[in-house]
Amino acid sequence: MTMDPVTEQWLRQIPEVEKVLQRYADAQVVVVADRCFQPQWDVAYPTFFIEADEQHKTLTTMEQLWSWLSEQHVTRHALLINIGGGIISDMGGFAAATYRRGIDYMNIPTTLLAMVDAAHGGKTGINFGGMKNQIGVIRQPVATVIDTRWLETLPTRAFLSGYAELLKTMLLDSRESVMQAVAVLEEWSEGKLRMTNDELQRTIHRAIDIKERIVHADPDEKGLRKQLNLGHTIGHALEEAGIQRGMPIEHGYAVMQGMVAELYLSQIILRTKECTKDKCTMYKGQMYDVQRTNVRCTKGTRDTEMLRLMSRILIEYYGKMNYSCKDYGKLITLMQDDKKNLAPGEINFTLLLHAGDARINQTATDEQIREALDYLFNI
Ligand SMILES: NC(=O)c1ccc[n+]([C@@H]2O[C@H](COP(=O)([O-])OP(=O)(O)OC[C@H]3O[C@@H](n4cnc5c(N)ncnc54)[C@H](O)[C@@H]3O)[C@@H](O)[C@H]2O)c1
Ligand SMILES: [Zn+2]
Repeated sequence: MTMDPVTEQWLRQIPEVEKVLQRYADAQVVVVADRCFQPQWDVAYPTFFIEADEQHKTLTTMEQLWSWLSEQHVTRHALLINIGGGIISDMGGFAAATYRRGIDYMNIPTTLLAMVDAAHGGKTGINFGGMKNQIGVIRQPVATVIDTRWLETLPTRAFLSGYAELLKTMLLDSRESVMQAVAVLEEWSEGKLRMTNDELQRTIHRAIDIKERIVHADPDEKGLRKQLNLGHTIGHALEEAGIQRGMPIEHGYAVMQGMVAELYLSQIILRTKECTKDKCTMYKGQMYDVQRTNVRCTKGTRDTEMLRLMSRILIEYYGKMNYSCKDYGKLITLMQDDKKNLAPGEINFTLLLHAGDARINQTATDEQIREALDYLFNI
């Protein structure tokens, strides 16, 4: 990775960073940063570097970080700055939330995923007992400062991982937001976009606004915020299965897969409520009358546009995963262990009737989940 040196001066040139640092002018400032920046690090603030991978998002690393904060004699009035992707904001945020019952922290996200998602909303935590983000708390940062210059050095897979979360957010907003984001993705893939491009920046800020609006309405995830879990029930199961197979995949890649499967599930669960008389059945994204399989269902007109669009994007940019029906039992068990579930054995989903219309607290039968996985792995 080549990048200019990260200096205090460079950071302070970002107006929002300077504003926050002025507010904390008399406070102690410490930094938690991704180890990938260490070679070009030239910041005077005491800095704790973390290896940004899921294997290090653990209690052991957290203990080292807590010890380091104690050794630095960090007081309750200090400011902690996280500089890195989602792993850093999750861990630094968790340390800030727990150390001395909580100190202030600011996020400076350096990956797309952290810019549009992880660094906003105050969810922090670590993996535990083989489960992702099993331990954590919600504590809001005092600021999250976006500077897309960080993205210039981001590998393609990390960019696409973040873009999956961005597309998810757009799906929660409107068809127009989705279409605009897809157009930007297509331009990027043709090599026409620099990371500092205006259109990309606008898309990133639009996604941030949508997420912030949702989080603001429901910071503790009692209801509305659950919308943001679209794609994450099946996505988390795939992410964990990847870790257990010794072949971890990026969070956003798992979310993209999960989103396609859950958009399919949305079709068989949400709309069938409107045409139960016909007992419609879905085949390749279209609904048919179960009695006359050559006749398209007309009672509950289905909006399959987003399912088809996301399926195409999955194939073109993310690639299919290598799972077969032999793996479904394991994946469903992982979903049953998901912390989002409200009752034991009942798997909780956020589904989407159409762009901008998400339905939280939905459940699905094993059979429906298997059908959705069949769709996903055989697109
Ligand atoms: N708290 C939340 O709401 C929330 C939401 C989504 C995801 N997450 C968590 O976020 C994590 C994933 O975050 P991520 O995708 O940002 O991953 P990450 O932090 O692991 O970063 C991805 C990779 O990019 C490298 N990197 C970071 N910035 C770079 C830069 N500017 N240039 C080049 N390389 C850079 C990192 O070293 C790492 O190898 C997961 O642990 C996930 O659980 C949390
Ligand atoms: Zn996510």
